[in-house]
Amino acid sequence: MSQFLSNCSVDALATAAQSLREGSLVAFPTETVYGLGADATNAQAVARIYEVKGRPSDHPLIVHIADLKYLEQWISDIPEYAISLTREFWPGPMTLILHRSELAKDFITGGQDSVGIRIPDNSLALGLLEAFHKLGGAGIAAPSANRFGQVSPTTAEAVQEELGNYLSDTDLVLDGGPSVVGVESTIIDCTGELPRILRPGAITIEMIKEVSKLIVSDSTKNNSNDLKQENIRVSGSLENHYAPNAKVFLDLLPVRGSGFIALSEIDTPDGVTRLAAPKTIEEFARILYSALRAGDHQNLDSIYIAQPTGEGLAIAIRDRLSRSAKGR
Ligand code: TXA
Ligand code: MG
Repeated sequence: MSQFLSNCSVDALATAAQSLREGSLVAFPTETVYGLGADATNAQAVARIYEVKGRPSDHPLIVHIADLKYLEQWISDIPEYAISLTREFWPGPMTLILHRSELAKDFITGGQDSVGIRIPDNSLALGLLEAFHKLGGAGIAAPSANRFGQVSPTTAEAVQEELGNYLSDTDLVLDGGPSVVGVESTIIDCTGELPRILRPGAITIEMIKEVSKLIVSDSTKNNSNDLKQENIRVSGSLENHYAPNAKVFLDLLPVRGSGFIALSEIDTPDGVTRLAAPKTIEEFARILYSALRAGDHQNLDSIYIAQPTGEGLAIAIRDRLSRSAKGR
């Protein structure tokens, strides 16, 4: 059982940073979802992330840093358009895949020549990262703090529920309240001449086009066979991911006794449990994962979801929903 810290003072963050330096795991909030952190230069600590998550060890991890000044050491080069993206969207829900430096070892990158980097926009995460850098740390590797294939946690309680049985006494869970974005960061492959979206998120294709002034492709919209290979590398883009225990059905009339998630403008059909009625697309993203968890807490066999239409963040929501509907 890990320790649960809900009052994260500067001292508490310094202690958490010290534990990370000593090889423990620290789960922490970010604006997207909660992450399970380890010192990204410590092979043993990173190995424990895989153990605790039950995740295949060839899946790469995102390295979190507090500031652009810590970026250079992790990468070997960066295109001009990626620099513009970092200036515009960091700290924020965006992960850039860049050519790696010597510091980004195979145990972080899954043996690939690239590394994923992100500066999260959450005061507690940034406080932890600052304290960690102060102790000489280069970056915190952190996947979403859920068991492999499950729904990402957006609260500290959900982390505890997911990983409590797998964490040890020296590991910590920091409680920073609910994540404000609610879906994982946009992942952009910046190893080529043009940016390519590997996972849609709150930084949308329109935003990336506007800042980069380039053609941006979204590989998640392409079902061609050569991407199958790549899907193995990006576990978040595996077809069956983000799945609750209940079976998820999309855009179908719910049967009696099932759960239901839809925008507030859509009425609740008779005999179903309304799990969420968000008023906006942003709220839909924010509460989606906790609504799926609520369905599991109520032991519902099935959850019916009316997907939001349109572009922007709705694309990220539909991306996750289509995967959770495929089950595990
Ligand atoms: O919002 C987020 O990104 C959260 C918070 C905690 O930062 N993290 C997160 O990590 O979602 P994770 O590990 O659950 O998902 C990261 C995805 C994985 O699918 C991984 O395969 C992909 O990023 N990834 C990481 N490094 C990569 C790389 N070098 N090349 C391709 N994909 C990479
Ligand atoms: Mg994940």
